[in-house]
Amino acid sequence: MSESPPPPPAWSISNMANGAVQFLRLPVLASSGLAVVASGLLYFKQNELIYPRNVPADARTNVPSPRMFGITDFEDLQIPTPDGESLNAIFLRQSKTRQSRNLTVLMFHGNAGNIGHRVPIGKALQETLHCNVILLEYRGYGMSTGTPDEVGLKIDAQTALDYIRQRPEFKDTTIIVHGQSLGGAVAINLVATNQDSGDIGGLILENTFMCIRKLIATVLPPARYVARLCHQTWASEDVLPKITKVPILFLSGLKDEIVPPPHMTGLFSLCKSPSKVFRTLPNGSHNDTVAEPGYFDHIHSFVTEEVLADSK
Ligand SMILES: *[C@@H]1O[C@H](CO)[C@@H](O)[C@H](O)[C@H]1NC(C)=O
Ligand SMILES: *[C@@H]1O[C@H](CO)[C@@H](O)[C@H](O)[C@H]1NC(C)=O
Ligand SMILES: *[C@@H]1O[C@H](CO)[C@@H](O)[C@H](O)[C@H]1NC(C)=O
Repeated sequence: MSESPPPPPAWSISNMANGAVQFLRLPVLASSGLAVVASGLLYFKQNELIYPRNVPADARTNVPSPRMFGITDFEDLQIPTPDGESLNAIFLRQSKTRQSRNLTVLMFHGNAGNIGHRVPIGKALQETLHCNVILLEYRGYGMSTGTPDEVGLKIDAQTALDYIRQRPEFKDTTIIVHGQSLGGAVAINLVATNQDSGDIGGLILENTFMCIRKLIATVLPPARYVARLCHQTWASEDVLPKITKVPILFLSGLKDEIVPPPHMTGLFSLCKSPSKVFRTLPNGSHNDTVAEPGYFDHIHSFVTEEVLADSK
């Protein structure tokens, strides 16, 4: 197998925007009666817009294996959740021949596709940090059971963290949580509720948003009032300031066409972590920021200077 090309598009929240345009255009143009109907559609359809787990079309059946990217030392896991779902996860084991640290990156992906599409990113993280990598599949995505929603994805994130904590191979590992786009909101919530245990050494956020309502409001200004109907809130702007014990790296693609960069600077200014670092990728769009030069260098510097320098 030849070396893998740059990571494929990480997909994005753009489908939500595209879908929302279809639903939200109506109230702008139509009479108030139709607007009520459209609002109802938004209310009931929003899970399909926010969690497009069938994009691309074969995302529920075709999860690329690490083998396709030349990786041999990995495990394909099914992890049970406390509420009866079964989550697929890929564990890329750190190389034992290297003088590796006890470091494990837990990855949460954006709102489309599946973990297989992100294996090249996990591989690059592993090559950068000589670490273990766990890619978690949310409920309702890829080979995981269930249906996605905000409550469920929060359970899924906790389930993955608890899995790492109880597996002997990960004893004394320092955990770094990595979240892209929607995964950033998942990551923020997980770190905020687990920072006291001391095993989370860092949080890396890429192109994530203040909250779903503000995202809809900035992407589709005329739909601002409909945004209030969103029952999926992902209120990172309220949760992120609770993180006071974990260093945070913000990676912001300045050409992000889906989540406007002010969402990232807004989160950064709300951040109360004593160790916070903001790095921009000037040519990075929403999907391809991860493939921009400097992305993994920023991660390497952050982990070396802010995470490992302080570790006991
Ligand atoms: C990002 O991914 C979405 C979903 O696959 C796609 O529709 C969009 O064209 C991509 N954007 C870029 C800039 O690659
Ligand atoms: C991780 O820590 C454990 C327990 O302290 C130790 O036995 C193991 O060798 C460490 N692994 C690495 C890769 O440093
Ligand atoms: C951004 O893209 C332009 C045009 O391709 C290029 O000249 C520039 O060096 C790039 N900047 C970075 C930071 O990659």
